[in-house]
Amino acid sequence: MSLIKLIEFSRLGDDRGALVSLEQNKNIPFDIKRVYYIFDTKKGVARGFHAHKDLQQVAICIKGSCRFIIDDGSQRESVLLDKANVGLLIDSMMWREMHDFSEDCVLMVIASRLYDEADYIRDYDKFLGCIKNV
Ligand code: TYD
Repeated sequence: MSLIKLIEFSRLGDDRGALVSLEQNKNIPFDIKRVYYIFDTKKGVARGFHAHKDLQQVAICIKGSCRFIIDDGSQRESVLLDKANVGLLIDSMMWREMHDFSEDCVLMVIASRLYDEADYIRDYDKFLGCIKNV
């Protein structure tokens, strides 16, 4: 089974342009507790390099593009996000990395919980250890 779970959002566009609406427990499959976005990313920078113990997220590149790597401890897959109406669903206990940010990239992330540093696993070996103990 692929680790890359994409959600295609309806484009509610008309002749004036495009619009996407995100609603909790409708096209976003959880209660929305937090939204953050990453932009002005410097050339050559990669981000992420962590997993979350208990957090669901949907990442949407609303401008430009970036490449995600998703890793469950036994498989590693990569996907280019470059559409404002496509989201990547990332479950708990998934290692993620973001690479190849375009200069104009605006990456918006919808999250099921408030920010909590204690929920992060920032060390890959520790992540592998946690996976084995599940
Ligand atoms: P970090 O998790 O390192 O970003 P990334 O996973 O994209 O590499 O977050 C960068 C900083 O921002 C770090 O100091 C934590 C802080 N932060 C918040 O305060 N709230 C948030 O919702 C997020 C995602 C990060």
